[in-house]
Amino acid sequence: MILIDGKRIASEIKTEIKNKISALIEDGKNIPGLVTIMVGNDPSSLIYINNKEKACKEVGIQSVSEKLRSDISQQDLLNLISSYNNRKDYHGMLVQLPLPKHIDENKIIEAISPDKDVDGFHPINIGKLIAGKDAFVPCTPAGIQELLKRYNIETVGKHVVVLGRSNIVGKPVANLLMQKNKYANAIVTVCHSAAHDLNQYTRTADILIAAIGKPEFVKADMVKEGVVVIDVGINRIKDDSHPNGSRVVGDVDFQDVSKKASYITPVPGGVGLMTIAMLLQNTYKAYLINGG
Ligand code: GUN
Repeated sequence: MILIDGKRIASEIKTEIKNKISALIEDGKNIPGLVTIMVGNDPSSLIYINNKEKACKEVGIQSVSEKLRSDISQQDLLNLISSYNNRKDYHGMLVQLPLPKHIDENKIIEAISPDKDVDGFHPINIGKLIAGKDAFVPCTPAGIQELLKRYNIETVGKHVVVLGRSNIVGKPVANLLMQKNKYANAIVTVCHSAAHDLNQYTRTADILIAAIGKPEFVKADMVKEGVVVIDVGINRIKDDSHPNGSRVVGDVDFQDVSKKASYITPVPGGVGLMTIAMLLQNTYKAYLINGG
């Protein structure tokens, strides 16, 4: 069994971006800028946003974080987005999800300029991804593909089974890995809550991508020998043996499934760190698209 080291690959990617930005600075050019927008004070979102900002600093991306009150009106949020759409110094923009109930998430996503949409959630980018055109690919799916690429894991003609059909992971990763190119070209099955007998699908997976948000859901009897397992889950469970009474686990029972897997991502230290690395890569792409 080979452990897929997301921490190492994410760090390699960050170094690559840092070097590109150093070269820009040496040439006296502008540097890439990212604005992150957060509404309210959801603790998980705050951790994500702070990690994103920290990663930007590490590689030399200029970042600003707009942390807004939970009762901000939809119109005020739209106005803020519009002001950043027009700024030349911020090339990428993301609005952390979920948003408070009184705000229409779709309206917000659609207000972000598709050329600054580093999350890849705008319908224009989703459409381009499905059509096989150059697009901002959502960060977690892009990170998964990058891990497969850098570990030389063959995807062409392989059966990829995706557990979960979210707009952030399941749907885009399925579309990404079915595209006709060297690092995809897989036969993809997407499973979701309406599946009657999940094992019937998961047992035929060459590559299993678990993104359902259920702690340690995937067990060894659900997979075949030699499967490649990509665990997208980040679930906090109670564990009194840990100092703070809890620990983070994935959607896969790592101890159990790693006995049968040829490759597997750990949680933490797998896909999660790649998501942020790909956000930095998308921000650099936004910088190039928006003319530096
Ligand atoms: N909430 C959970 N994941 C994400 C993400 O990748 N981007 C944004 N904007 N919000 C999220």
